[in-house]
Amino acid sequence: MKKKNSVLINNKIKKFNKTIKIPSDKSCSIRAVILASQCIGISNIKNLLESEDVLNCISALRSLGVRILKNKNVYKVHGNGLGSFIAKRKEKIFVGNSGTTARLLTGLLATQPGEFHLYGDSSMNKRDMSRVFEPLKKIGAFFYPVSKKTLPIRILGTNMPLAQTHVESLGSAQVKSSLLFSFLGTAGVSNIEEREVSRNHTEIILKKISADIKVKKVKKGNLISLRGQKNMHAFNYTVSADPSSAAFLIALTLLTPGAKLTIHNCLCNKNRMGFYKILKEKAGANIKIKNLRKSSDNGELVGSIVAESSSLKAINCPKELIPSLIDELPILFTIAALTKGVSKFNSIKDLKNKESNRILESKKILTQAGIKCKTTKDNMTIYGSNKITIPNKPILVQTKGDHRICMSAVILSLATGIKTKINNFETVNTSFPNFIKLVKYLGGKFEIK
Ligand code: S3P
Repeated sequence: MKKKNSVLINNKIKKFNKTIKIPSDKSCSIRAVILASQCIGISNIKNLLESEDVLNCISALRSLGVRILKNKNVYKVHGNGLGSFIAKRKEKIFVGNSGTTARLLTGLLATQPGEFHLYGDSSMNKRDMSRVFEPLKKIGAFFYPVSKKTLPIRILGTNMPLAQTHVESLGSAQVKSSLLFSFLGTAGVSNIEEREVSRNHTEIILKKISADIKVKKVKKGNLISLRGQKNMHAFNYTVSADPSSAAFLIALTLLTPGAKLTIHNCLCNKNRMGFYKILKEKAGANIKIKNLRKSSDNGELVGSIVAESSSLKAINCPKELIPSLIDELPILFTIAALTKGVSKFNSIKDLKNKESNRILESKKILTQAGIKCKTTKDNMTIYGSNKITIPNKPILVQTKGDHRICMSAVILSLATGIKTKINNFETVNTSFPNFIKLVKYLGGKFEIK
């Protein structure tokens, strides 16, 4: 689905009982290719997610002189070691819609001598980058124009980076990873005091490839230390399924009477499982995580997720869980809207910095569906109901460049039968290219215009 598309949904989905394969994890795919580019030798990455975000990350690396070839299901990344990017004077590096690529690459470029121009698509160019520019400036990098907080930006990497200690209190894995990537090129030991613990895929891959990294649990979060300028060697890595993509179809299963869904080989990293945890433990969802094991393919916890239709309870989402379900909030709002009772979500202000302002966009959709919700900058209260009255007018979703808003609207519509038209649906290709095919496989009916 490359060109602009609208998707129309008119009907409620009927019960299903299926086993499906969810595409590979986006965060791990991006980290694996970027880190492979900094190793010495050819890394083999299997099951890489072939979504627009990851393909844009690959093109960005290619424009920095990295050779990446594909042979059957394996991406072969020809790494030339730390600091081996080539700054081509006139070439601008395009990161598309991918915040992870933008922020992680910026970290590496900050401690690599040279001048690099980075830009994204119209949604990416509006997103805050100062969260990585500011700490990277302290290390010694320069960003031009000086006070700009967004892409496009010109990065002047430093050849004399300063090892120091940073405090990460946003709970952002992108900020943490950007800093860790900058530490790779920095002599001596650099530290992060991680006050709000976020996904740790970067730390897991860095350990796997024998980077000199230590993670110590402290009273408030983790102390992460990395000694830089150590050569790292090529590695083999297989990416597991993305729990954030799985969440949409798990939600549809929970909300559809008589439905059952099984997903194997799914990443079950504790820092990504907040959605499953809260639904199981607080909302009474029938979700089972089976065959949980540490994968020798990637060093992550993986398992099978089995979900069945459930009679759910309203959710009061604790602040501490937010980083572990940050990407699942739009679909959790949908679940809350279709669950009897008042659900509350606090400390969610960072949602406005995602691919769209997700507080605002979610509210627009729920309001059109006749579901009352109150929002502030940092909170959302949803007055849910399990007996939805179908509104007279179809829901119209206009969000440009937000895959997760589009997919949440599809689930709302399939679970209720509310007529919905979603414009710019092609944006789901950034993370979940076969989403609509899987919806069809489960029995969902829609039209593509
Ligand atoms: C990501 C971290 C999260 C998440 C994003 C992917 C990552 O962003 O929302 O989709 O791969 O590190 P923040 O770090 O900004 O919270």
